[in-house]
This record gives sequence, C-alpha cells and structure tokens, in this order.
Amino acid sequence: MANKMKTMRRKLEEITRQHKDFSFTPSSTTNDEQVTDTRETSSAVEEALVVGRTGEKQKILASLSSENLTREITILPIYGFGGIGKTTLAKLVFGDAQFNDYSRVWVYVSQVFDLKKIGNSIISQVSNGDSYIIQNQMINKRLQELLAGRKILVVLDDMWRDRDNERQLEDLRAMLRVGEGSKVVVVVTTRDEAIAKELCTIEPHKLAPLTDDMCWTIIKQKSAFESKDCKEQLEHIGRCISMRCGGVALAAQSLGYMLRSMTFDEWKSVRDSDIWNVSATRDARSPQHKVLASLRLSYNSMPPYLKLCFGYCATFPKGYNIAKGGLIHQWISLGFIEPPSILSTWQLSENYVRQLLGLSFLQVLKSPSVSRYTIQALTLFFF
Ligand SMILES: Nc1ncnc2c1ncn2[C@@H]1O[C@H](COP(=O)(O)OP(=O)(O)OP(=O)(O)O)[C@@H](O)[C@H]1O
Ligand SMILES: [Mg+2]
Repeated sequence: MANKMKTMRRKLEEITRQHKDFSFTPSSTTNDEQVTDTRETSSAVEEALVVGRTGEKQKILASLSSENLTREITILPIYGFGGIGKTTLAKLVFGDAQFNDYSRVWVYVSQVFDLKKIGNSIISQVSNGDSYIIQNQMINKRLQELLAGRKILVVLDDMWRDRDNERQLEDLRAMLRVGEGSKVVVVVTTRDEAIAKELCTIEPHKLAPLTDDMCWTIIKQKSAFESKDCKEQLEHIGRCISMRCGGVALAAQSLGYMLRSMTFDEWKSVRDSDIWNVSATRDARSPQHKVLASLRLSYNSMPPYLKLCFGYCATFPKGYNIAKGGLIHQWISLGFIEPPSILSTWQLSENYVRQLLGLSFLQVLKSPSVSRYTIQALTLFFF
C-alpha cells in the first residue's frame, strides 16, 4: 500500500509539473463542466415537498431578524456536504414573509467565480435593466446608487473557491458594501467551510444531514409509495435503502425516482446491491451516476496534495474510526506532506485535516479525549 501511494504521489507531482509547464487552462467541454452547467438554480421551491428543515429555517430567520441586523451588511453562509439541502434551505429563507419589504435577488454563482457577472446580476434584478456593465468601478458605483437607503436580500448560491484568485472573497465583500443607510443581507451557500468562515459577518450555519426517517419520507414521495401494493413489506425494504443515503437529500431523491417504476423484487435487489458502486453505474443517466458526479465536483476542486491525503483515508474500511494523530503520522511517513517553509509538517497536516473536515469529507466522531474521524461514506465510491 505504501509503495502504491508513493507511486501515486510521484504521478500527481508529474501531472502538476506538466500542467504548469504547458500552461494548461481548464477546458469548458469536460464532463465536470457539463455537470456544472446543469446545476444552475432559481429561487422557486415547492415548500410542501421539503421534508424537515423547519428548525433550521427558523434559526436562520431569527439571526436575520431586524433587531439582529446591526450592521449595514450581514453575511450568513450555509455550508455542508454536497446535495445535503443547502440551496433548498436558502430558498425557504428567501421566500419567507420576513423579507417582504426587501428587494430580493437570487444569484447562482457556480464553480466559475465571476465578480462582474454577480454584480451585473444584482443590478439587473434590482433595476430590471439589461445592459451589461464591464468595468468593476462602474459596477460598484451603480450598485451604490441603486441600493442607497434600501433593504435588499441577496442569495449567492453555490459558491466555490477560485484557487487562482486570492482576492475573490475580499472583492466580493467590498462590492456588496454599499454604504450607510442601506441594509444588505446576504445568504451564501457553499460546500466549503473555509469560504463560509471567511465570508461571514455572523456565525455561519452548518447544515446537518437529514435523518434516515426524513430520507425515507423523501423516498416515499418520489417513488409514489402510497400507490404501491404490499406497502408493509415494501416499507421495511425502503427503510433499509434510506439508510444508505447518509442523510443526503439528493441521494434520497434520486433513489426515490429510481424506485418509482420498480417492482417489489427490484426494490429488494436495490436494498441488497452496492447501490453507489461506480463500476455498476456506468450509465450516465442513472440516478446513482448523477449523485456521484455531483459529489465528485468537491473532490475535483481539491488541490492535488489534498486529493492524495484524502485518497489515503479512503483506503480505510467504511465506518472506520480514524485517530487524527495516527493519520497524520502516516501521511508524514509516506511523504505526502511537503516540507513546508513556514509551518511544521505537523501543522500543515493539521491544516489538511481541517480542510477535509471543512468539506465534510471527514466527519468528527464524538469522543472524549482524542480527535477521531470517519469518512463520509458516499465519497468512498469515487475510488
Ligand atoms: N429537506 C428536503 N426535503 C426534500 N427534498 C430535499 C430536501 N433538501 C433537499 N432536497 C432535494 O435534494 C436535492 C439536493 O438539494 P440541494 O440542491 O438543496 O442540495 P445542496 O446542498 O444545495 O447541493 P450542492 O452542494 O450540490 O449545491 C434537490 O433536488 C432538492 O429538491
Ligand atoms: Mg446547492
């Protein structure tokens, strides 16, 4: 195993070197981009179909109530694992009557961060104008004119980090700070805790996974369970299947759609199968493929060193209880941690652990004395 990982490290280093030498830029025709394109969201939501999340919604609304909005700009990020329901929760907040006297703007940010696009989107939604402003300076000026003295709610949905643009978040915050007399409330959704922590002006909201019961409710909705025969036996099977969703709404929804047209025996096969097995889901249209492709975006967005360290974690069995100290020792002895200039190898390793926790790829196990983690089970199927 150690040799395998070392070879993998050498290969990754070689790829990184070639990437730099040949000045490759990401192509817009890769599969990843296609997934990104279909991810665009709008604020529309059918509230009746949303399972749970009422407590979370109330908590967010309370922290955005007028008595808590003491500054001219308030930024509240919602972060959590891919497909867990961040956008859905943001939609519930966006549509709430608490913001009836606000101008509301919904911006889908996407993996390609474009400050001009965000600025222009806000301007066009507030003013109903359709001219595109090119200069940043003019965008800021126009926003200040338009938003002076107004209350505005902006949702920035699906924020990622552009690794070549260190000023990305700073510039975004500066653009949204439109001056005294205005009340700007910004709700950001992101998979990345680090983005949430950097952008927030109030405590960000970490969105917890749904319970197995909630996943089962979603599966029932999507599979038209009520119209099926032998519901009692089917429920037993369905509940087993819902436990395989790991609290991820997207997984429950996709499985529900798939089960809709299936017979009793086919439900049993799904229960007994390795549902998320990548090799068994070559069909790009299959629900499993879509879920894994969506989750894989997070993995693809990781820098190479983090991919390598996570890849090593994925060699542990599912549900394995990983001790932080042991993991870091193994990373270091395998040579995964480059000798750094400022931080010690140990500090750098701790930083990598934090990044993996921030992406919810690693999850903290509650333990009294030591830091222990497990891997988010769905990510194991990337390998
Ligand atoms: N509480 C819920 N009840 C029912 N369906 C839900 C719930 N939460 C999310 N969904 C459904 O699950 C899917 C994924 O949800 P959503 O897009 O909100 O996740 P996300 O966390 O924003 O994902 P991503 O990280 O990919 O942006 C959506 O189709 C949504 O309708
Ligand atoms: Mg989303």
